[in-house]
Amino acid sequence: MKNGLFLSLEGVDGAGKSTHIPFIEQQLQQLGVEVVVTREPGGTPLGEKLRELLLHEPMDTRTETLLMFAARNEHIKQTIAPALAQGKWVLCDRFSDASFAYQGGGRELGAETIEILEQWVHPDLWPDRTWLFDLPLEIAMQRLHTSRVLDRFEQEQGEFFVRTQQFYHQRAQQQSQRFTIIDSSQSIQQIQQQLQTQLQELVAQWQTP
Ligand code: TMP
Repeated sequence: MKNGLFLSLEGVDGAGKSTHIPFIEQQLQQLGVEVVVTREPGGTPLGEKLRELLLHEPMDTRTETLLMFAARNEHIKQTIAPALAQGKWVLCDRFSDASFAYQGGGRELGAETIEILEQWVHPDLWPDRTWLFDLPLEIAMQRLHTSRVLDRFEQEQGEFFVRTQQFYHQRAQQQSQRFTIIDSSQSIQQIQQQLQTQLQELVAQWQTP
């Protein structure tokens, strides 16, 4: 059986990626694809416990980074790899690109440390397609601060998100074959239309023997 495709969604907090997850899931189902929707940090019972700590417990940046990758390792072993091997598609709300952007950029750990951890935890597994939801930071921050109680990352100040966004852009440039940048200042309908076309293309390619 053909492996499923691995799709991920990325963007700074407030960029609006999570709004589109139910739409993508529904589109894939309509196209006859079995899809597992999951998220990082999280996606397994242990990963969800680590998520609670990561979002709310003060900790050193290295601890934070290692816990992100600990949760990711568990997620890959328990959820992502088995689903892909069964021919299911995996739609993941954030993956290693978030560590690259947030810990590498935002927390200023640098790209190299993240690349070492990526090589250690998932040398052979990368998303087949990553949608980077991109929005001017002023708008993303406005959206964020009108929403709800903020977690440890969302409480960070402007400079943190400037660095995070720069690292996202850098990665999208370096790995342009799998990245698609979505202009998140468009209307939801415009974004959905774009996603729909791309999903149809992906499924058609995947179904071609
Ligand atoms: P979410 O709000 O999109 O679910 O993500 C939770 C937070 O975790 C978000 O602020 C980004 C952060 N994060 C990292 O800092 N590094 C990572 O590797 C991941 C997956 C998330």
